Amino acid sequence: MIGFSAMSSPKITRYALVGCGGRGIGMFAQPIVKNFASTAVLVGICDVNEGRMAYLNRALGTKAPAFKDFDRMLKETKPDVVIIATKDSLHHEFILKSFEAGCDAISEKPMTTDDEKCRAILAAEKKTGRKVTVTFNYRFVPYVTRIRELLAKKTIGKILSVDFNYQLDRKHGADYFRRWHRRKENSGGLLVHKSTHHFDLVNWLLGQEPTEVFAYGSLQFYGPTRKERGKNCRTCKHTKTCEFYYDITAPTAVGALIDNNALYAKVEHYDGYQRDGCVFDPEIDIEDTMNLVVRYSKGAQMSYSLNAHCIYEGWRMAFNGTEGRLECSEWHSGPYVVSDQQPQNILIYRPDKSVETIGVLVDHSSGHGGGDARLHKMLFDQPQPDPLGHMASSRAGAMSILTGVAANHSLASGKPIRLADLLKG
Ligand SMILES: NC(=O)c1ccc[n+]([C@@H]2O[C@H](COP(=O)([O-])OP(=O)(O)OC[C@H]3O[C@@H](n4cnc5c(N)ncnc54)[C@H](O)[C@@H]3O)[C@@H](O)[C@H]2O)c1
Repeated sequence: MIGFSAMSSPKITRYALVGCGGRGIGMFAQPIVKNFASTAVLVGICDVNEGRMAYLNRALGTKAPAFKDFDRMLKETKPDVVIIATKDSLHHEFILKSFEAGCDAISEKPMTTDDEKCRAILAAEKKTGRKVTVTFNYRFVPYVTRIRELLAKKTIGKILSVDFNYQLDRKHGADYFRRWHRRKENSGGLLVHKSTHHFDLVNWLLGQEPTEVFAYGSLQFYGPTRKERGKNCRTCKHTKTCEFYYDITAPTAVGALIDNNALYAKVEHYDGYQRDGCVFDPEIDIEDTMNLVVRYSKGAQMSYSLNAHCIYEGWRMAFNGTEGRLECSEWHSGPYVVSDQQPQNILIYRPDKSVETIGVLVDHSSGHGGGDARLHKMLFDQPQPDPLGHMASSRAGAMSILTGVAANHSLASGKPIRLADLLKG
């Protein structure tokens, strides 16, 4: 029988975005508008700062309806999915409201900042039947994906322990001390805001969930450690001598999507948000030096460190298994950064003393080692296969932040903290 196969056009998903800062524009609005017009449409944008919403529309050449009132945006634009890219401590509010309005949510990492908000999200998901996806772009980096494949096929047997050191340098690391991230009430501290990426990677690579955490942490390098300072770099008298001087008014590279001067400094009269605060401000209350030990559900243990004041940036991770040891590392700045043409190596040490080197080419074609573009395809294109489980649910979002949240409780109490207690409340 000769038939006609109807070519069905792909469903176009309606997205609304709350939080029009650098991440909201670059990671979400731009790809929807520029790369996924056949499957996705940006129906509304929301921010407390109208200057940043205007910047988004100007930079992308769009006329997305702009709202200062989130509820009004939901009512008038009727999105299928709400994308949340505000400061971390507000993610839960927008997730809950989106669920109540019958929408699914995509939350930037971290899903939220403390255990109470985390429990509220998990309960609301159950109650409304909606879902939140957490965007862990590190999972999509080709190098990390290869590690996941190797560990999933038991290349080093059962994993018994992990050593993980993450170094932030004095450029990127310092940036967390300039703005809202520097207050624990906004970000949960770096152990939540930043480490959520790292803890998610370990959970995903191990295939185990964290069960208990003990932490030490201190603020030794930034914060009120220096007298010479202004409120921000534009009003400071010490710009000639301070190694952390950041000129937000300096011209950005030609063609760059985000111009911090236009997106933040020039519109700060709307909401008072300063992007270039002093890294020695006394209001800073997050740690810059952190060490943890973590226990996992199938017996693995991890020692983890995060330092935000290092000479170069990158990470080193090692997995010790019954059948071998896997070592991997990445340099984001400093003497060992590899070019697009050089492979980044994974080393596998075996009990017979042999060492296997597996090279993976670095992909600089999109942000976060090529991870951002791969994540965009999963988020905004037609449904894609996901054999390695790259997409992260609320459970993964919860287990990654709860390691840092438990660490915060451990810092406050001086005791090890069980994650089951945090999930129960
Ligand atoms: N996955 C990654 O690699 C990555 C990288 C950077 C940032 N992020 C995450 O993305 C999110 C945004 O980060 P950013 O650097 O763009 O921050 P940002 O401060 O530049 O942008 C946040 C935006 O939210 C807006 N906002 C604040 N309160 C609001 C409210 N009540 N209602 C509506 N809008 C509000 C602000 O005005 C601002 O425009 C954060 O959650 C951050 O953790 C993730």
